[in-house]
Amino acid sequence: MIPLENEDIVDPIMKYGKDVINSDIFRSGFHQRHHMKMTVADHSMDVTITALKISHALNRLHIHTDEKTIVEGALCHDLGILGRDEKFHSNHEMSVMHPILSVDETKKLIPDMDEKLEGVVRRHMWPASDITMPPNSKEGLIVMLADKYSATCEFMAIAVGRRFKAKAREELCDICIEPTSAAAAQPA
Ligand SMILES: [Fe+2]
Ligand SMILES: [Fe+2]
Repeated sequence: MIPLENEDIVDPIMKYGKDVINSDIFRSGFHQRHHMKMTVADHSMDVTITALKISHALNRLHIHTDEKTIVEGALCHDLGILGRDEKFHSNHEMSVMHPILSVDETKKLIPDMDEKLEGVVRRHMWPASDITMPPNSKEGLIVMLADKYSATCEFMAIAVGRRFKAKAREELCDICIEPTSAAAAQPA
């Protein structure tokens, strides 16, 4: 991971993702298991960091990308997984259905969601969810690849008996997450 002193990573997340990260829906993702030992929110943070790294590499090749869509799409891509035990009967059903439900959750957080952002979220599981719906934008391709890379790293860590640890993600949580009003009211 790139250290978080790298402003290229922190700045776009603070600029485009802070409201999502501080929403109740996203925060509930820290209590929703994902990839065995991860949570939805931790994984989504990892995907966002990885997607921005890919975006910056492309920018150096003069391939320009829309960082707002990348950050919003990466943070929201798995929100449809929240409540998985009540919503889905099988992992297969979850893998097919959660991108559709993630679009609904994204709309709640980002009411002016445009078609590109919807495509990023809806198509991120290609080809596993629907082979006829590949990413239809550069940003969608980046988030899809970042998601698969992050998931692979998380499963590889579990395979060798370790919990996936991303220092950058933990630092990012410290930077971005505001205390809840209840926590803020606690005496120091
Ligand atoms: Fe997903
Ligand atoms: Fe994911």
